[in-house]
Amino acid sequence: MVYLLSSIIAFLLIILFIVLNRLYNLKLASLKNKKSSSPNVKKILSKFDELLLDMIAVHDSGIKGVPAGKEGEFYKMALLRACDIVGSDRGSIMIYNNDDGLLHIIASRGISDELVEKIKLKPGTGVAGRAFEKGEIIFVTNPEKNPDYDGYMGYDEQTEPFVAVPLKIKDSTVGVLNIHLPKTKNNFTDLELKFLSILAGEISIMAENINLYQSIEKFYFELVQTLAKTIDAKDSYTGSHAITARNRAKKLAERMNIPEKFIKNIEYAAILHDIGKIGIDDRIITKPAKLTDEEYAQIKKHPEIAYDILSPIEFLSIVAKIILYHHEWFNGNGYPEGLKAEEIPLGSRIISVIDAWDAMTSDRPYRKALKKEDAINELKNGAGKQFDPDVVDAFLKLIEEEE
Ligand SMILES: [Fe+2]
Repeated sequence: MVYLLSSIIAFLLIILFIVLNRLYNLKLASLKNKKSSSPNVKKILSKFDELLLDMIAVHDSGIKGVPAGKEGEFYKMALLRACDIVGSDRGSIMIYNNDDGLLHIIASRGISDELVEKIKLKPGTGVAGRAFEKGEIIFVTNPEKNPDYDGYMGYDEQTEPFVAVPLKIKDSTVGVLNIHLPKTKNNFTDLELKFLSILAGEISIMAENINLYQSIEKFYFELVQTLAKTIDAKDSYTGSHAITARNRAKKLAERMNIPEKFIKNIEYAAILHDIGKIGIDDRIITKPAKLTDEEYAQIKKHPEIAYDILSPIEFLSIVAKIILYHHEWFNGNGYPEGLKAEEIPLGSRIISVIDAWDAMTSDRPYRKALKKEDAINELKNGAGKQFDPDVVDAFLKLIEEEE
């Protein structure tokens, strides 16, 4: 859905730029034909060039897509380009936050961090809030005398004229682009305002895509939690296990300096690592006695069953790999493939330790939970055999701190 939408938008924008380029070249040709060499015309053409370059930079970045976690960088870049268009050193992008119903500044230039933190506008209040609510561009020539301008809710540091351009897609407005007039100018030109509007359109499309991406991620996260609950219903032992496992996996991954973008995968893997038990006979999973070799062989299939369930979901493909190997041993004696040491994904080595700890410290149908000291000793004994010694070290420090 997002890709389809992005492709359609990218196609339309490419057409827009082709048209703009054509117009630009026609204008250039006609001016050349007139043999006009007035400095004024040259200045306009050079300005037009600059504007077009700024537009293309934002457009290029937009069609490449904004990777998760990089939204802030996109907005910052788009704002700087918008400021460049008019030569301004002060401006902001505000995006509507669905959770609190307020407009938040998510990119700024020339505004103090304190102010950025404090300004949260209700739609309809202040100039930006009004531009947002009405979906119309508002230019304020004298903010101090404008009744809608409340000095950024009493926190303003400068009061030069500015323009608030709504970030609109069709009938919905996602935010506002505020650009202040440079001190060297008396007014924005028509061309600058037109370009700011087009740029605002580009930013809106990306903002919408980012929102869509975040809703899809939220949807998947809820799906993941629902799946985890499905396992809970089947294997009572996993009830609080999944949530505890997730929190510990996150902390452990952070402690092991795993890049932030991978941590979420490890968290999901911690929640879902035993989802493959869905495909195992209930009688084996809930058996209140030690398993026979045959039953154990059945249980050993759960990582592969989980992989088959999760790997077709693109969003969970890395998670599926982590889960596939969560019963591999550091010395190569694990399953399903007998991978060794670094061959086993780090996420799987983390889940392996967390899973073993939770299993040892919980009551099982056929035995009581181990005492904490005994579980610690088991982990220490297993370091280098079943477990990655570095993960065990980090985990034991985490457990110590938890106490
Ligand atoms: Fe497992």
